[in-house]
Amino acid sequence: MYCMKRPIIKWVGGKYRLIGSLEKRNFFVDDFDRYIEPMVGGGSVFMYVAENYDFDRGILNDINPDVIGLYKVIRDETDLLLEELDELVSEFRKKEKTEQEKFYYKRRKDYNQIRESGNEDKVRKTALLIFLDRTCYNGLYRENSGGNFNSAFWDYDEGRRIYIEEDIRKLSDFLDRCELYSLDFAKLFAQEINIGKEDFVFFDPPYLSSEFDYYQGGEFEYKDHRRLFELSRMLTREGNYVIACNSDSDVVRELYSSSELFNINRVSAKVSITCNPEGRGSNDELVICGNIDPGPRILQKTLRAKDY
Ligand SMILES: C[S@@+](CC[C@H](N)C(=O)[O-])C[C@H]1O[C@@H](n2cnc3c(N)ncnc32)[C@H](O)[C@@H]1O
Repeated sequence: MYCMKRPIIKWVGGKYRLIGSLEKRNFFVDDFDRYIEPMVGGGSVFMYVAENYDFDRGILNDINPDVIGLYKVIRDETDLLLEELDELVSEFRKKEKTEQEKFYYKRRKDYNQIRESGNEDKVRKTALLIFLDRTCYNGLYRENSGGNFNSAFWDYDEGRRIYIEEDIRKLSDFLDRCELYSLDFAKLFAQEINIGKEDFVFFDPPYLSSEFDYYQGGEFEYKDHRRLFELSRMLTREGNYVIACNSDSDVVRELYSSSELFNINRVSAKVSITCNPEGRGSNDELVICGNIDPGPRILQKTLRAKDY
């Protein structure tokens, strides 16, 4: 059976480096009805769960419509997307380094124009997003305040693959059993989900990492973390399996320890901070659980998280 090599796009706050620790410490539930990930981003956790656990239905959501658009195209237009990617990447590879850089900036402009115009060329837009995400500086999708993609070009390592066809096909199969939405996480539950009893809900919000977030907002402010806490508490009370990841900070600990429903666990993750290998470090994160009691276990399955 083919195993996915890595997420299709690299996303800020992506969890692929944490998956090995989550699996080893038994955070994943074996038996659940639906898998719900309301802030799916680059989808590394979803892909791991879909490959390793059985479930009938998935519900994936992210407030960023571009990322959900990408999953819709991967699910519904797989062949067309692969053709478009093949053309884009072949053209890029044929060029000398300095020409590759120019090519990158032209494609970045095309991508932003498609976004601004609301042009419905979804396949082209998705191919460009995958290409830019994998060739940009630090391999991280970043937008400016006007909402335009603005990461610089990265002197791309020729040996690395920009996309892996088998991964896209595999993800497309997984997405066949998923509903996709682009809503605020609380609206998703209010409008689209009949709250179940044994659903597995994995929340991975932008972290509360600085005083700035606490007092006056980044994209996800303290009041949003409170909303998330309240929703997690309600879902846990209803009997669902809930995980909420966050930074290890006093504020987060205080918030979640105010309810006896949660257990708070510290997990170590390797994080990539810059392109420089010396900038790679280890960071502790909190994995907060409702109705999940993690503990050591003897691994039954072969861990593949290092491939993510
Ligand atoms: C840390 S990232 C998730 C990373 C993901 N787990 C992965 O492995 O790639 C957080 C995501 O939350 C999304 N987000 C931010 N605010 C949101 C909101 N109010 N409702 C739903 N999603 C939100 C962001 O667009 C971002 O993709």
